Amino acid sequence: MNVNTIIEKEDIPVQELVRSALEARKKAYAPYSGYMVGAAVLTNELRIYTGCNIENASYSPSICAERTAVSKAVSEGKRKFKAIAVAGGPKGEEISQYAYPCGVCRQVLREFADPDEFIVIVARSGRDFKMHLLKELLPESFGPDNLKT
Ligand code: THU
Repeated sequence: MNVNTIIEKEDIPVQELVRSALEARKKAYAPYSGYMVGAAVLTNELRIYTGCNIENASYSPSICAERTAVSKAVSEGKRKFKAIAVAGGPKGEEISQYAYPCGVCRQVLREFADPDEFIVIVARSGRDFKMHLLKELLPESFGPDNLKT
Protein backbone atom coordinates (compact mmCIF):
# COMPACT_ATOMS: atom_id res chain seq x y z
CA MET A 1 0.00 0.00 0.00
CA ASN A 2 1.18 3.54 -0.62
CA VAL A 3 1.20 6.44 1.85
CA ASN A 4 -2.00 8.11 0.59
CA THR A 5 -4.01 4.90 0.68
CA ILE A 6 -2.94 4.28 4.29
CA ILE A 7 -3.78 7.85 5.33
CA GLU A 8 -7.33 7.43 4.03
CA LYS A 9 -7.82 3.90 5.33
CA GLU A 10 -6.46 4.70 8.81
CA ASP A 11 -7.98 8.20 9.20
CA ILE A 12 -4.59 9.76 9.87
CA PRO A 13 -4.98 13.47 10.75
CA VAL A 14 -1.90 14.67 8.89
CA GLN A 15 -2.51 18.40 9.37
CA GLU A 16 -3.13 18.05 13.09
CA LEU A 17 0.01 15.96 13.52
CA VAL A 18 2.13 18.52 11.70
CA ARG A 19 0.63 21.41 13.67
CA SER A 20 1.25 19.51 16.92
CA ALA A 21 4.90 18.84 16.02
CA LEU A 22 5.47 22.51 15.15
CA GLU A 23 3.86 23.55 18.44
CA ALA A 24 5.88 21.01 20.47
CA ARG A 25 9.08 22.31 18.84
CA LYS A 26 8.58 25.60 20.69
CA LYS A 27 9.22 23.74 23.95
CA ALA A 28 12.55 22.23 22.84
CA TYR A 29 15.35 22.55 25.38
CA ALA A 30 18.40 22.78 23.16
CA PRO A 31 20.87 25.27 24.70
CA TYR A 32 23.93 23.36 23.39
CA SER A 33 23.10 22.57 19.79
CA GLY A 34 20.57 25.33 19.23
CA TYR A 35 18.68 22.79 17.09
CA MET A 36 15.00 22.71 18.04
CA VAL A 37 12.89 19.64 17.28
CA GLY A 38 9.24 18.84 17.87
CA ALA A 39 7.43 15.55 17.28
CA ALA A 40 3.85 14.30 17.45
CA VAL A 41 3.10 10.59 17.46
CA LEU A 42 -0.33 9.13 16.68
CA THR A 43 -1.52 6.07 18.61
CA ASN A 44 -3.73 3.33 17.15
CA GLU A 45 -6.64 4.91 19.09
CA LEU A 46 -5.91 8.19 17.22
CA ARG A 47 -4.52 10.01 20.26
CA ILE A 48 -1.62 12.36 19.78
CA TYR A 49 1.40 12.56 22.12
CA THR A 50 3.94 15.30 21.57
CA GLY A 51 7.59 15.65 22.48
CA CYS A 52 10.61 17.91 22.06
CA ASN A 53 14.34 17.34 22.27
CA ILE A 54 15.78 17.78 25.75
CA GLU A 55 19.53 18.33 25.95
CA ASN A 56 21.84 18.01 28.92
CA ALA A 57 25.06 19.72 30.06
CA SER A 58 26.62 16.26 30.13
CA TYR A 59 25.55 15.85 26.45
CA SER A 60 24.97 12.07 26.28
CA PRO A 61 21.79 12.08 28.41
CA SER A 62 20.13 14.23 25.72
CA ILE A 63 16.99 12.79 24.16
CA CYS A 64 15.43 13.39 20.77
CA ALA A 65 11.93 14.78 20.29
CA GLU A 66 10.65 11.54 18.75
CA ARG A 67 11.73 9.44 21.71
CA THR A 68 10.28 11.96 24.16
CA ALA A 69 6.91 11.62 22.42
CA VAL A 70 7.09 7.81 22.27
CA SER A 71 8.17 7.61 25.94
CA LYS A 72 5.24 9.75 27.00
CA ALA A 73 2.80 7.55 25.11
CA VAL A 74 4.27 4.22 26.22
CA SER A 75 4.34 5.37 29.84
CA GLU A 76 0.60 6.06 29.48
CA GLY A 77 0.00 2.52 28.27
CA LYS A 78 -0.01 3.14 24.48
CA ARG A 79 2.13 0.70 22.51
CA LYS A 80 0.87 0.80 18.95
CA PHE A 81 1.46 3.79 16.69
CA LYS A 82 0.33 4.72 13.20
CA ALA A 83 2.31 7.84 12.37
CA ILE A 84 4.69 10.54 13.55
CA ALA A 85 5.29 14.12 12.43
CA VAL A 86 8.68 15.74 13.02
CA ALA A 87 9.79 19.34 12.60
CA GLY A 88 13.34 20.52 13.29
CA GLY A 89 15.77 23.29 12.57
CA PRO A 90 18.03 25.90 14.14
CA LYS A 91 16.49 28.12 16.80
CA GLY A 92 15.17 31.49 15.72
CA GLU A 93 15.11 30.66 12.02
CA GLU A 94 12.36 29.60 9.69
CA ILE A 95 12.59 25.84 9.19
CA SER A 96 14.45 25.31 5.92
CA GLN A 97 15.09 21.56 6.09
CA TYR A 98 13.14 18.35 6.42
CA ALA A 99 14.38 16.91 9.71
CA TYR A 100 14.37 13.14 9.43
CA PRO A 101 14.41 10.97 12.57
CA CYS A 102 17.89 9.80 13.55
CA GLY A 103 18.79 6.11 13.38
CA VAL A 104 18.15 5.50 17.06
CA CYS A 105 14.67 7.04 16.83
CA ARG A 106 13.85 4.99 13.72
CA GLN A 107 14.66 1.84 15.66
CA VAL A 108 12.56 2.96 18.65
CA LEU A 109 9.61 3.68 16.35
CA ARG A 110 10.08 0.23 14.80
CA GLU A 111 9.54 -1.35 18.21
CA PHE A 112 5.95 -0.08 18.35
CA ALA A 113 4.95 0.10 14.69
CA ASP A 114 4.30 -1.92 11.58
CA PRO A 115 7.06 -0.69 9.24
CA ASP A 116 4.89 -1.41 6.16
CA GLU A 117 2.14 0.96 7.36
CA PHE A 118 3.70 3.43 9.80
CA ILE A 119 3.97 6.91 8.28
CA VAL A 120 6.76 9.38 9.00
CA ILE A 121 5.96 12.98 8.16
CA VAL A 122 8.79 15.52 8.03
CA ALA A 123 7.53 19.08 8.04
CA ARG A 124 8.95 22.47 7.26
CA SER A 125 5.58 24.15 7.87
CA GLY A 126 1.87 23.35 8.01
CA ARG A 127 1.77 23.39 4.22
CA ASP A 128 5.18 22.02 3.37
CA PHE A 129 5.90 18.45 4.38
CA LYS A 130 6.97 15.06 3.01
CA MET A 131 5.66 11.63 3.90
CA HIS A 132 7.35 8.24 3.97
CA LEU A 133 6.74 4.73 5.19
CA LEU A 134 8.97 3.62 8.05
CA LYS A 135 10.16 0.70 5.93
CA GLU A 136 11.69 3.18 3.46
CA LEU A 137 13.68 4.84 6.24
CA LEU A 138 14.61 1.61 8.02
CA PRO A 139 14.71 -1.20 5.46
CA GLU A 140 15.24 -4.85 6.43
CA SER A 141 14.71 -3.90 10.05
CA PHE A 142 15.16 -5.94 13.19
CA GLY A 143 12.14 -5.97 15.49
CA PRO A 144 10.27 -7.78 18.25
CA ASP A 145 9.23 -10.62 15.90
CA ASN A 146 12.85 -11.64 15.45
CA LEU A 147 12.98 -12.67 19.09
CA LYS A 148 9.87 -14.86 18.92
CA THR A 149 10.68 -18.56 18.68
N1 THU B 1 17.39 15.54 17.43
C1 THU B 1 16.09 15.15 17.57
O1 THU B 1 15.38 15.62 18.46
N2 THU B 1 15.61 14.22 16.72
C2 THU B 1 16.34 13.61 15.74
O2 THU B 1 15.86 12.69 15.11
C3 THU B 1 17.68 14.09 15.43
C4 THU B 1 18.27 15.02 16.42
C5 THU B 1 17.93 16.51 18.38
C6 THU B 1 18.95 15.93 19.33
C7 THU B 1 19.75 17.15 19.70
O3 THU B 1 19.12 17.79 20.79
C8 THU B 1 19.64 18.06 18.49
O4 THU B 1 18.58 17.55 17.70
C9 THU B 1 20.90 18.11 17.65
O5 THU B 1 21.33 16.83 17.31
